[in-house]
Amino acid sequence: MPLTKAGLEDVVAANSAICDIIGGEGKLTYRGIDIHELALHSSFEETTYLLWFGSLPAEASLRQFTADLAARRRLPDEIIALVRRLPSHARPMDLLRTAVSALPLYAPPVPQGTDPTVERATRVTAQMATIVAACEQIRRGHEPVEPPREGSHAESFLRMLFGGEPDRLAVRAMDLALILHADHELNASTFAARVTAATLADIDAAVVAAIGALSGPLHGGANEQVMRMLQEIGEPSEAEAHVAELLAAHKKVYGFGHRVYRTEDPRVTHLREMSRRLGQQGGDLRWYEISRRVEEVVQERKHLYPNVDFYSASCYFSMGIPVDMFTPVFAVSRISGWAAHVLEQYADNRLIRPRAEYVGERDVPYRPMAERVRAAG
Ligand SMILES: CC(C)(COP(=O)(O)OP(=O)(O)OC[C@H]1O[C@@H](n2cnc3c(N)ncnc32)[C@H](O)[C@@H]1OP(=O)(O)O)[C@@H](O)C(=O)NCCC(=O)NCCS
Repeated sequence: MPLTKAGLEDVVAANSAICDIIGGEGKLTYRGIDIHELALHSSFEETTYLLWFGSLPAEASLRQFTADLAARRRLPDEIIALVRRLPSHARPMDLLRTAVSALPLYAPPVPQGTDPTVERATRVTAQMATIVAACEQIRRGHEPVEPPREGSHAESFLRMLFGGEPDRLAVRAMDLALILHADHELNASTFAARVTAATLADIDAAVVAAIGALSGPLHGGANEQVMRMLQEIGEPSEAEAHVAELLAAHKKVYGFGHRVYRTEDPRVTHLREMSRRLGQQGGDLRWYEISRRVEEVVQERKHLYPNVDFYSASCYFSMGIPVDMFTPVFAVSRISGWAAHVLEQYADNRLIRPRAEYVGERDVPYRPMAERVRAAG
C-alpha cells in the first residue's frame, strides 16, 4: 500500500547537479561552491552562468554572457503596450506573469546554431528585470526607463526601477539578493518549472508556471507578508506582543520555518547584515531592529529560524522598493535557477507523473437527474 507524503516532504523527485542543501548543517552550494563564497565574491551574471553551464566562466565567457544579457534587455513595444493596457489595480505578480507569458510571441527568431533553450533563457532572464521595472514606472505614470546597454544586471535593474543613478550600497545589496535567491533545489516554483518542462513544453511555459507557484505567500510571496507584519508591529518594543498574538491564534509568522533547513539558512546570515547596513546608511534602523526582535521572540517561543524572505523584506524596503514589488524582485533572481533546472530536465527527460492515493468513495451508482430531483423534492 503506497504511503502518501504530505507536501512530498523528503521525497526525492529528481537527480540534480545544480544545487545542494544540507538542511541540518545549514549548508547550501551551487554546483558544489559554497553560497558564502558566492555571496562574498560572485555576481548575478557569474552565478547564473555557473548554474546554467556547470562551472565558473572564464573571463571572456563572462564578458560575453554579460553582453548577451545586456543586448536582450529591451522589451518589444507590444509588451510595454500590453502592460499599459492591464488594469491599474492589478497586482505586480499578475502583471509580471501576463507579460512574461506574452514575451515569446514577440521574440525574434532564435539565431541559427544557437541552443534555443539557452537563447530563450537568456532573453527571459534579461527581460524579467525590465518588465518588473517597467510595471513600476508605468504605474507611477512615467515612461519605462530605456534599458542600459552597459552595467551589471543589478545596477541596470535599479536604474530602470527608479530612474537615475543608483546608490552603490543598493547595487551591492541587489546583486547579493540576486545571487542568494538564484536557486534553491526543488523549491515549489522550480518543481513547477521542471514538471512543465518534462512534458516537453518550452521554457517560456515552464517559467510562467514557475511565476504562478512563486506568487503564493508560503513561497515567494512571503517577503511581502513579512514587510506588512513589520509595518504593523511598527516599533521593536511591540514585536513580542505581536508575535505572541499570532502564535496564540495559530497563525504563521511569515519569513520563518523551512521544509529543509533545521538551523540557520546560510542566506539569512548575509541578508541580516545587509539589512543592518542599509538601515544604517539610510539613518533608519527601525526595520532591522524590529526584525531582530521578531527573530529573537520566534526563536524563543517556536524554535524556528528565519528564512530567506525574512531579512530580504527589510533590505528591499530600505532600498525604496514598494512592498508589492518584493515578490517580482524574487522572480528577477529565481529565473536563473528555473532556467538551469529546465536545461537539466531537457538533458535527461522523463515525464513527471506521480500517483495519488485515492481516498474517495468507490462503486457509487450513477443516479439519473429525474431521480435526484425526486429525492431533493
Ligand atoms: C516554509 C513553510 C511553508 C514550510 O512548511 P512545512 O514544511 O510544510 O511545515 P508546516 O507548515 O507543516 O509546519 C510544521 C510545524 O511548524 C509550525 N510552523 C512552521 N512555520 C511556521 C511559521 N512560520 N510560523 C509559525 N509556525 C510555523 C507549523 O504551525 C507546524 O506546527 P504544528 O506541527 O504544531 O502544526 C512554513 O514554515 C511556513 O508556512 N512558513 C511561513 C511562510 C514562509 O515564510 N514561506 C517562505 C519559505 S522560504
